[in-house]
Amino acid sequence: MSEPTDPTEFRGRGVGTSDSLSLNPVFERPGEATDLPKNRMPQSESYPETAYQIVHDEAMLDGNARLNLATFVGTWMDDFAVRLYTESADKNMIDKDEYPQTAAIETRCWTILADLWNATDPDNTIGTSTIGSSEACMLGGLALKRRWQKRRRSEGKSTEAPNIVLSSAVQVCWEKFCNYFEVEARYVPITLEHRTLDGHELDKYVDENTIGVVAIMGVTYTGAYEPVAEISAALNRIAADTGVDVPIHVDGASGAMIAPFCQPDLVWDFRLDRVASISTSGHKYGLVYPGVGWVVWRDKAALPDELVFSVSYLGGNMPTLALNFSRPGAQVLLQYYMFLRLGSDGYQRVQQESLEVAQYLAREIAKLPAFELWNDGSDIPVFAWMLRKGYTDKWTLYDLSDRLRMKGWLVPAYPMPDDLADVTVQRIVVRNGLSHDLATALLAEIKTEVDFLDRLETPIPREGQPVLFHH
Ligand SMILES: Cc1ncc(COP(=O)(O)O)c(C=O)c1O
Repeated sequence: MSEPTDPTEFRGRGVGTSDSLSLNPVFERPGEATDLPKNRMPQSESYPETAYQIVHDEAMLDGNARLNLATFVGTWMDDFAVRLYTESADKNMIDKDEYPQTAAIETRCWTILADLWNATDPDNTIGTSTIGSSEACMLGGLALKRRWQKRRRSEGKSTEAPNIVLSSAVQVCWEKFCNYFEVEARYVPITLEHRTLDGHELDKYVDENTIGVVAIMGVTYTGAYEPVAEISAALNRIAADTGVDVPIHVDGASGAMIAPFCQPDLVWDFRLDRVASISTSGHKYGLVYPGVGWVVWRDKAALPDELVFSVSYLGGNMPTLALNFSRPGAQVLLQYYMFLRLGSDGYQRVQQESLEVAQYLAREIAKLPAFELWNDGSDIPVFAWMLRKGYTDKWTLYDLSDRLRMKGWLVPAYPMPDDLADVTVQRIVVRNGLSHDLATALLAEIKTEVDFLDRLETPIPREGQPVLFHH
């Protein structure tokens, strides 16, 4: 879970003095301002070349996206995808009337996902693209809340105090959902014995006011799958014992685009009757650039009608459900491009390669005496490790993260949630593009830096608390 960040801290950051931008004399042109304020709109115009150069140069200070092993989000697409992206950057997803083919492609994409996630009748499901998993999770959560409210009202019961049950290791979007939509979050703490939400003692958390349980396919902290079938079985027992019948939303931000290809026998999706809806990020293992997510409900009955708005569409009506109105349509086209380009076989090959690289890295890291694995990258291609207890008092995983950053590798270290907050882990997210060669180069850097840190004669001085990783 996250610590709040003060957005104003970014104001003075970057090039130039804290208030103004410095202009490279090479790009100065007669009649053009050379002193550009940073936090106010400049009075006069700039040549496009100048404005481009300033933005380009400043963005260069960001980390190298390909070496960013902290993010789950796509950092590479091929040249044809880039061409399609440039051609369709002007399309607004909400203009269904003006861009009916983009709208049709959007529907095709989520129907493909419904099929991939084993819906009984993919053509009778309902879904939508979103800006990412966060919006998709909010819509999934909202549908659960509305269904619960409708049922309670029809029974003449109170709708005052809805709650949702989730692991303490959920992504921050679920905290936002609970905060914005006023649903009590009932966190089931993860522990060393129960490292994910696994149905253990679920009856202590679920009651008649529970709108749903969230099961995560690919926990953000570690990449581990939550056993959706076990959670579902626990809910079946609760229903049999108490009559309280609780649906599941699967947050498959990463795993819903891995499991269908690489673990097809794992039952986590619409094959389980309790799974009402599934969300994923197209921009994670859907292999698209940032800006697309998906949510699909198992059938139309699982989505209350009042959440769907009608937008005029070729003289007819097109149902839409989204928190945003305008948003880019290009990523939806890119998603369809990827479905066509790779097909099931291609996705399987790409994801399998990432899994193999993750497991190779995990195996090699486990061989170093300093470390102990939390998991081994066999669910999604993500794994985390800890510093072995008693190994050293001279350095921590935060120091290793800093040292690797100096070499350009972004490998975050952060505390686990709540009850395990004294456990620090370091995590690698393997995405398409992190080849075996790059992984070997990274391993060599990790070994060099561990060796450096081990040779320190005194502990690294600390300056207050380490910065927390924001999930
Ligand atoms: C499990 C999980 N859910 C939701 C999200 C939010 O996804 P997005 O960044 O697409 O909004 C993430 C992001 O890492 C995640 O790991």
